[in-house]
Amino acid sequence: HGTSKINDKGHLEIGGNDVTDLAQKFGTPLYIVDEALVRQRAREYVQAFKASGLNFQVAYASKAFSVMAMCAIAEQEGLSLDVVSDGELYTALQAGFPVERIHFHGNNKTPDEINMALDAGIGCFVVDNFVELQLLNALAGDKGKKVNILLRVTPGVEAHTHDYISTGQQDSKFGFDIGNGAARQAIETAMGLSNLVILGVHSHIGSQIFEVEGFRMAVDKVAAFAVSVRSELGLTFKVINLGGGFGIRYVEGDKPLPIAEYVQAITGAIITNFNAAEYPLPEIWVEPGRSMVGDAGTTLYTIGTSKDIPGVRKYVAVDGGMTDNPRPALYQSKYEAVLANRANEPKEETVSIAGKCCESGDMLIWDLDLPKANSGDLLAVFCTGAYNYAMASNYNRIRRPAVVFVQNGEADLVVNRESLDNIICNDVIPARLSKSGV
Ligand code: LLP
Repeated sequence: HGTSKINDKGHLEIGGNDVTDLAQKFGTPLYIVDEALVRQRAREYVQAFKASGLNFQVAYASKAFSVMAMCAIAEQEGLSLDVVSDGELYTALQAGFPVERIHFHGNNKTPDEINMALDAGIGCFVVDNFVELQLLNALAGDKGKKVNILLRVTPGVEAHTHDYISTGQQDSKFGFDIGNGAARQAIETAMGLSNLVILGVHSHIGSQIFEVEGFRMAVDKVAAFAVSVRSELGLTFKVINLGGGFGIRYVEGDKPLPIAEYVQAITGAIITNFNAAEYPLPEIWVEPGRSMVGDAGTTLYTIGTSKDIPGVRKYVAVDGGMTDNPRPALYQSKYEAVLANRANEPKEETVSIAGKCCESGDMLIWDLDLPKANSGDLLAVFCTGAYNYAMASNYNRIRRPAVVFVQNGEADLVVNRESLDNIICNDVIPARLSKSGV
């Protein structure tokens, strides 16, 4: 998919780069991002929204993969940006991302984070709870500012009726529940806080969702809420944000829809609901993360040791693991992979891919069919663009890999591989423990 193919040497090629060359030049493990595919995904969203005729913002959920170069691409593609911490905000600002198109999320923004965002002139806060409403109003008042807000609501889309990683249900740490009246109360409270400008509401029902039904249900609930707020409180929402969560294909059996179909389901339901209520059509925002970058990422590893337990299993170990991809350990996520330097060779054995961390849970793929792999061969694991680099750690003091963007035969380093000095750069030995006494 994307610009990936197998070249005539039998090597995997991405963005016109033979991955054996990339391994040589940048080392492994290496995150490789197919820039053309990221841009294609961004354009699929934008074009689908344009076709709807609604006003819109597509905000890339930077939590999926927040690095300055990715912010630059999001800006070039005309996207907005969703950030959830001072670190993501700083990354975006340092990349020169237009601050008025940044939306600040999170269920526990600290006063420092709020002040930083206020000073920067952030486009919108997505307010999560009553404590934050008061805090934001007070901090904005201290600076003599008025800020745009969306209120995050939980529409009560039931997790157990659909196969979601669910956040839209009532029992969630996020947002104001529509069903129990908290959302209505939050609107009334916010209307009484003079430094807050209510643009509308936000709902995010979960992640890696395949069916459109949940999004339609969320739109129905949010629209009904908007209509009641308008008739009873006289407040008209200008913006409805439907979050992210659009699924991608990791392995056979994952059946996501084309991006345009998710957008059509949402915009169609919006138009139907709001027209029926004779309500001015709101601007629609979405926040895709995974579906923007997930399938554009590939992690390239070098195979090292192996261990064959006859009749049981063969373990093949790579030079990374749960430190660069914690998702199999955290969510039992499945991935596909190929032997990148011998991609055309017949598959001869079934092996399980282990990482190099000191724990048994550090497995990347169970039961993968491969040609007989030797140490020094390259393994490419697909669909690692989202929530991999973003969730990487230094467990076992393993260094985070480099990230390269590839396109048109070029490869540009966008994150350096961590050095051993990076590993210790924040360590301090108190003088009383220091050998040299310095
Ligand atoms: N908006 C909000 C408010 C969110 O909480 C999220 C994801 C998104 C947008 C983007 O969702 P996406 O389009 O990427 O599904 N670490 C987990 C995923 C956690 C998702 C958290 N929130 C994983 O690796 O599967």
